[in-house]
Amino acid sequence: MQLSCSSLPFHFMFLLFMLILSFSSLFFLLLLFLQWRYPNHKRLPPGSMGWPYIGETLKLYTENPNLFFSNRQKRYGDIFKTHILGCPCVMISSPEAAKVVLVSQAHLFKPTYPPSKEKMIGPDAVFFHQGAYHSRLKKLVQASFLPSAIRGSVSEIEQIVLKFLPTWKNATINTLQEMKRYAFDVAMISAFGGQQDSEMEGIKNLYQCLEKGYNSMPLDLPGTPFQKAMKARKQLNETLRRLIQKRRESGKEIEGLLGVLLAAKDDKLNHLTDSQIADNIIGVIFAAHDTTASVLTWILKYLHDNGDLLEAVTREQEGIRRKIIEANRGLTWEDTRHMPLTTRVIQETLRTASILSFTFREAVQDVELEGYFIPRGWKVLPLFRSIHHCADFFPQPEKFDPSRFEVPPRPNTYLPFGNGVHSCPGSELAKLEMHILLHHLTTNYRWQVVGDKDGIQYGPFPVPKRGLPIRVIPRNKKAK
Ligand code: HEM
Repeated sequence: MQLSCSSLPFHFMFLLFMLILSFSSLFFLLLLFLQWRYPNHKRLPPGSMGWPYIGETLKLYTENPNLFFSNRQKRYGDIFKTHILGCPCVMISSPEAAKVVLVSQAHLFKPTYPPSKEKMIGPDAVFFHQGAYHSRLKKLVQASFLPSAIRGSVSEIEQIVLKFLPTWKNATINTLQEMKRYAFDVAMISAFGGQQDSEMEGIKNLYQCLEKGYNSMPLDLPGTPFQKAMKARKQLNETLRRLIQKRRESGKEIEGLLGVLLAAKDDKLNHLTDSQIADNIIGVIFAAHDTTASVLTWILKYLHDNGDLLEAVTREQEGIRRKIIEANRGLTWEDTRHMPLTTRVIQETLRTASILSFTFREAVQDVELEGYFIPRGWKVLPLFRSIHHCADFFPQPEKFDPSRFEVPPRPNTYLPFGNGVHSCPGSELAKLEMHILLHHLTTNYRWQVVGDKDGIQYGPFPVPKRGLPIRVIPRNKKAK
């Protein structure tokens, strides 16, 4: 069929009309959908979703993350929305709203991690679960780290400290790396008991490989740290299986978290599977050492920068030292409970450094939170650091002032170990490690920061720049 010249404008007009009609209908449908999904009375929190898809990810990664959060908090308030790493998110920096997410309505917010991290640690690890499986595993892990369970480990941990300290004497050390070695050794005895085993060295090496890949890009290509880490993860499973076999055959009581997990039976008398045991052992060691090492690094930095405080902590520790020498014994659990100033230094470091700046949850259904609507599937991030650095709860928040803990903080404002069902089961062990190390370090050594004194690096936790290189020297006790 041929079109005559006179029919062209008509056809063009008709086409244009149809096009406009289609677009308007689509737009109308979209409006209807949005109206249905986010009705007016269900207000999303204020905030910017940034660019399509990338959202505000680039801003988060190029700005100081603390400024990223605090600037938005100032502009939008304690609950605001953003879009990072391909996900719509709601950030929360009010203690009350954080309590709703983590404690009172915790069942509406499930923990969420990138799939690569889940693969690497193991999908059966306690962190990734909610409900019955989570509470079963959590009870078992918690039971292994209660004060009653760890009080017997003081002398073993002390032996580890006494093994490390002389190697630091008159040397320049990378504080973070040394603290990682210390915290790793403590985590290993918590997981496997004090019994030495030829498999331990292998586990240590595989772990180092795993850790490098954990913080790298999840590229499953030959030679990438990620692929090497996944290989190490498989080998860790095999090594653990051999270790379990040996321990069973030895006929001796199996110590540590491993013993607890192997003995566990549910109400139908089913044991945990091998991969449930492996994922949780690997997961707990993971959660235990980097965190504790980062906090210890900050403690050394703060004590270095606050000379009077270091001397006061040393006096407290010397008082305990005298008692120990008089009684001709080692440090005990009770001693570690009578270190009030050292305890406050640890508390204040946990607040100031806030190494876990936030945690991730995901709304399992549409939720209303303090008048705002959070759609199902959105990530929800309680911002521990913002709460810890809020002047309403901690006056002069940037000042390192352990005396603020002479009175307990307001409820739900102090969350270094989280809150609610997923709170940290290892908090007492972490603090015990810090008390024991500080006892021997402050009474016998002094340290000087080498190079740049200030600056922070993220890897992934915030730590002093370059892991805080220090020169450790014996303390001149006579001059004091
Ligand atoms: C100073 C050191 C530590 C800090 C600051 C820390 C902090 C935290 C925080 C904030 C959470 C909660 C995360 C969330 O709600 O999503 C957590 C969970 C956890 N932590 Fe720690 N932690 C430390 C040391 C340890 C140690 C020594 C262990 C091992 C004994 C450990 C094992 C765990 C486990 C297994 C979980 C997951 C609990 C669950 O999902 O139910 N942590 N930790």
